[in-house]
Amino acid sequence: MRALSTEAKIAVIGAGAMGAGIAQVAAQAGHSVTLYDMRDGSAAQAIDAIDRQLGKRVEAGKLDADKRTATVARLKAADSIESLADSGLVIEAIVEDLDVKRRLLTQLEALCSAECILASNTSSLSVTALAAGLQHPERVVGMHFFNPAPVMALVEVVSGLATSRATARCIHSTAAAWGKKPVHTRSTPGFIVNRVARPFYAESLRALQEGVADCATLDALMRDAGAFRMGAFELTDLIGHDVNYAVTYSVFNAYYNDMRFQPSLMQKELVDAGHLGRKSGQGFYRYDADAEKPRADELSADSPVETCVVEGSLGVADGLIERIKAAGITVIQRDGRGLLRVGDAVVALSDGRMACQRSQEEGQANLILIDLAKDYANASRLGLSYAKGTSSEALDQVVSLLAKCEIKASLLADTPGLIVLRTVAMLANEAADAALHNVGSAADIDLAMCAGLNYPLGPLAWADQIGLPAVLKTLINLQGAYGEERYRPSLLLRRHVAQGSRFHD
Ligand code: NAI
Repeated sequence: MRALSTEAKIAVIGAGAMGAGIAQVAAQAGHSVTLYDMRDGSAAQAIDAIDRQLGKRVEAGKLDADKRTATVARLKAADSIESLADSGLVIEAIVEDLDVKRRLLTQLEALCSAECILASNTSSLSVTALAAGLQHPERVVGMHFFNPAPVMALVEVVSGLATSRATARCIHSTAAAWGKKPVHTRSTPGFIVNRVARPFYAESLRALQEGVADCATLDALMRDAGAFRMGAFELTDLIGHDVNYAVTYSVFNAYYNDMRFQPSLMQKELVDAGHLGRKSGQGFYRYDADAEKPRADELSADSPVETCVVEGSLGVADGLIERIKAAGITVIQRDGRGLLRVGDAVVALSDGRMACQRSQEEGQANLILIDLAKDYANASRLGLSYAKGTSSEALDQVVSLLAKCEIKASLLADTPGLIVLRTVAMLANEAADAALHNVGSAADIDLAMCAGLNYPLGPLAWADQIGLPAVLKTLINLQGAYGEERYRPSLLLRRHVAQGSRFHD
């Protein structure tokens, strides 16, 4: 199905943060756009604000002055909803309330032609429920932009039970023609992004609650080893804990209290205290003028390290070996089960077991576990944990080896799956379940997480890179350690492992 032609008039209802951004996107793409808001003057104010914003881009040399003039000329404020009657597409971005949105859609259905597509920018309501009771529910579709709409590339095209394929395809093509990266998804709680992202917050919140490390250290590991733009604490402080907690809570409720989505009491306490993050001046961090940004913990040691022994393959952590060699350390390679020996220390990539458990099960003294890094050849920090009884000399050896490779070592308590590995394994697991339930294709799920949240790699592609047997083992070990169904592996992951296939083949 082709995109709407630029001849088609677009109406945007609700001139708040999202509506204004969407109107700008459609006008920039060449459509005449009418913006309507029930509050008098809001639509005109929003257009003025767009004009000023584009003006700044012109001054910065990022936009042609002609383009600014043409875009703003295509935007018109309407004082009544009746003036939207000749639109080819109406996108509503009004208050997030099912009844209010339904009343608006009923009113639009009576007003607009039968061909007009009615799209909702809802981030949490069911598109199926929004369309229920309308005469033509097949032309109702979710068109979920991300904030700020002119900047964020992702658009989730959400099909409700009655949405026709033609409608969904037309909106997909239209979003692509507007320069966006659209994905198809079904109307299920959280769609793709707000569902699959839950473990990103949940695993860090749990680690903090269990005293695995402080916020600054966990955030630094997610950035410097995980290659995420921000860690969970700085990100939720930015989003606002009221908003982030409400999304988690609504997804948890909508999935009938599936413990995989269980909200965090620690975050609820912040909400209760009014510590909403940056906007209130305090969240996990403080934002007042004299607040000092806490530093991530780092171990330091300077033991002489000249050689190390690598036994077998370190799997996804093999990139470390080249780095050790480049640091001038002799690497002796021999067969084995994937261990690195430095002096008395035995180093292994976490497999989701606690170091104490693994040390006991494998009869391994001085066992030090390392966390996952997105790219061991370039990571600037790694998380470590060790089994009780490990000598301080063994730890010094490992920290010194990493220091020679210019990798900072941050110590975590002896916890299953450390922080990056457990988070990525859980993101991949959620993504796998979303794919299993046909919420989106593997390609669309990965694209959504990268384009919507700037993840460094889609969770499914990342799991392929780690190796699906290793991801499955991590989840099984996490589930064993906690005894909780929260960590139950997705059937799709198990199936791929049993078949020897991957998410992206
Ligand atoms: P907002 O509160 O900034 O703007 C909503 C606007 O709609 C207000 O100007 C209000 O006067 C107007 N409005 C309310 N009821 C109306 C009605 N019956 N008819 C006409 N105008 C009406 O809200 P925001 O943040 O722009 O969100 C709008 C929608 O977009 C919601 O459905 C929200 O869930 C969704 N969304 C929000 C995102 C965000 O980050 N803020 C991201 C993606 C989706």
